[in-house]
Amino acid sequence: MVGTLLLLSLLFLSLLLLLQAQLSSCLQGGGGGPTQRLPGAIIIGVRKGGTRALLEMLNVHPDIRAAKSEVHFFNRDQNYQRGPSWYRAQMPESLPGQLTVEKTPGYFSSPVAPERARALNASLRLLLIVRDPVERLVSDYTQVLSNRRERGKGYPPLERLLIREGRVDPSYKAVQRSVYHLQLAAWLRCFPPGQIHVVDGDALIRDPFPELRRVEGFLSLAPAIAPSDFRFNHTKGFFCLESGGRHRCLDESKGRPHPPVRPAVRQRLCRHFREHNRRFFEMVGRSFDWC
Ligand code: A3P
Repeated sequence: MVGTLLLLSLLFLSLLLLLQAQLSSCLQGGGGGPTQRLPGAIIIGVRKGGTRALLEMLNVHPDIRAAKSEVHFFNRDQNYQRGPSWYRAQMPESLPGQLTVEKTPGYFSSPVAPERARALNASLRLLLIVRDPVERLVSDYTQVLSNRRERGKGYPPLERLLIREGRVDPSYKAVQRSVYHLQLAAWLRCFPPGQIHVVDGDALIRDPFPELRRVEGFLSLAPAIAPSDFRFNHTKGFFCLESGGRHRCLDESKGRPHPPVRPAVRQRLCRHFREHNRRFFEMVGRSFDWC
């Protein structure tokens, strides 16, 4: 009799402990509460394509939770070696049903990122924002120039980096990063085309709403972003966010004035990218109004 009572109280005690453990895991976010989750979608590039604008604009959606800074998990060995728990720890808290999104433009050109991303989550959805490759190249150069100036360092004029023996130098990194089809091919070896959505970065600058509506569809989100979430700012020269009663533009590193490029150099660049662009259009089944 005493033995049975002891057994029953032990059973009761274990049941209580189990319930308590479940409750505390819920409170920590392991169940239905807020917790850090791995991204369900990532913006993989392109560098200077408008990746920050795209992420900030998507973040208006109540079902999207965006990582604040670039995480560089798949493209930097020292981060990748820290494993998925480190990656998760870089993410904002989200509720069940919300989608975590991060952007790291360095993923697109990284030879190791596609395979690593697939290994983590083969159903990850990928957003690629592209822009006229010539504009992107000039923007890329402008960013490096500006970073070097901030550190009190010099940097050669664009033409000196770009043109070698009278021709566009294909080994210049900013040229390579504008050859989209080669980089996309690597991602298409790891992900089906239906999992990659291409955003027109030039169209996002002109009018963000239609591009964002298409992204909502691709991410299977209920349409919630509205044209009234953005207002063109004439001083900035770009659309800025209208959220929570605030008008907020991206910082001054986005939308910098570009140095002038001589028409002859621009033409040469257009010629250089023409065939690369054609291959990219073929790959994505869509063409863009590039030079
Ligand atoms: P520029 O600074 O050359 O104009 P990323 O965020 O990938 O680095 O891209 C930066 C580019 O985003 C900017 O390049 C700018 O043209 C573009 N962009 C798109 N929409 C923008 C917006 N609403 N505000 C500021 N920049 C925007």
